[in-house]
Amino acid sequence: MVADHHQYYYYMRVYFDNAATTQLDPEVLKQMYTVMESNYGNPSSIHGHGREARAVLEKCRKSVANLLHTSPAEIFFTSGGTEADNMAIRCGIVDNGIGHAITSRIEHHAVIHTLEAMQKAGTIKLSYVNVDEKGNIDYDQLEELLQTHERTFVSLMHANNEIGTLNDIARIGDLCEKYDALFHCDTVQTLGHYPHDLKQLKVHFMVCAAHKLHGPKGVGFLHINHRIKIKPLIYGGSQERNMRGGTENIYGIAGLAKAMEIAYAEMEQHQKHIQGLKSYMISELQAKIPGIAFNGEIDPDKSLYTVLNVSFPEMDSADMLLFNLDIAGISASGGSACSSGTDIGSHELGAIGANPSRPAIRFSFSKYNTRDEVDYTVAKLRELCLVNA
Ligand SMILES: Cc1ncc(COP(=O)(O)O)c(C=O)c1O
Repeated sequence: MVADHHQYYYYMRVYFDNAATTQLDPEVLKQMYTVMESNYGNPSSIHGHGREARAVLEKCRKSVANLLHTSPAEIFFTSGGTEADNMAIRCGIVDNGIGHAITSRIEHHAVIHTLEAMQKAGTIKLSYVNVDEKGNIDYDQLEELLQTHERTFVSLMHANNEIGTLNDIARIGDLCEKYDALFHCDTVQTLGHYPHDLKQLKVHFMVCAAHKLHGPKGVGFLHINHRIKIKPLIYGGSQERNMRGGTENIYGIAGLAKAMEIAYAEMEQHQKHIQGLKSYMISELQAKIPGIAFNGEIDPDKSLYTVLNVSFPEMDSADMLLFNLDIAGISASGGSACSSGTDIGSHELGAIGANPSRPAIRFSFSKYNTRDEVDYTVAKLRELCLVNA
């Protein structure tokens, strides 16, 4: 039956790596193409062409701000998530005279490496809040760390990109407010997937990378709460109200704004579809592959619906699992937990104590995925696990 299935789907190509990046929405492409063709002026030029490009830029800023229930003055376009994280962390800390930061060991490298570099340079003391075996942070310890240190910069993500576990960012925001801490939230994996209402959320810095929500690569933004004053990370011209030098990526920004518009308009429907695929894959994997386990939370209330991280039984050729999926036309990402002290493997899986000898694969879904793709992938995985058992 598996063979029939396999033959039937022989030419199937499956993209299950949407946490790495997503396919461009055709409507986004259309919008970018229009701007590329028609709005080639430099938004800083004062002539007609420049003014037209500036109008596009500011319309995009307003559109993004409206969706987040904030003011356009709080949105600063960047080259993506990494730059926005760096800007929030470096400038948020240095320009506010902060000497202590709290993060977790499962943050993205854009956060951890930035904070570690600042610790190494002697700019800050760095504390790590504990995470349990599913990647949930210890909120009591977070409060203790805030209580026992000087004014702090807290950098904790909304959803983990590797295992999908969600943090309660309203609760973190309340704690930060209580102890007068600055709160930077890496929302790269959740922007456009959940509504973020900046009137309600007590967050000082929030981050977007357009390519995670069917927008273009190399563009994103940093939201900075208007009460927080920082200086630029990148000095240059007076772009972005003197906060980020460099001619604006106008087509990228137009694509970002369009991607956000679509994501917000279709959010409920996509969430239902994608959560349905994830739940279906969980039950199919459980039914068809003995000895599998899930890394991170899988409870829909505690887990990002686009990400499913699976550990497979130990096998002779663990490295071959991803390779064989690739041969079968299935793109996913993974590896296994890094052993302590090494930098090989996933630092997130290492931090939650996943067994390094079991191969782990992250499947991440989008609105374009289908049940047939899940069926094909589970059938292929079953075949590979049985052969390698
Ligand atoms: C949680 C998180 N933060 C930051 C980034 C960096 O985004 P970019 O690669 O667009 O700079 C990523 C990208 O994978 C991410 O998943």
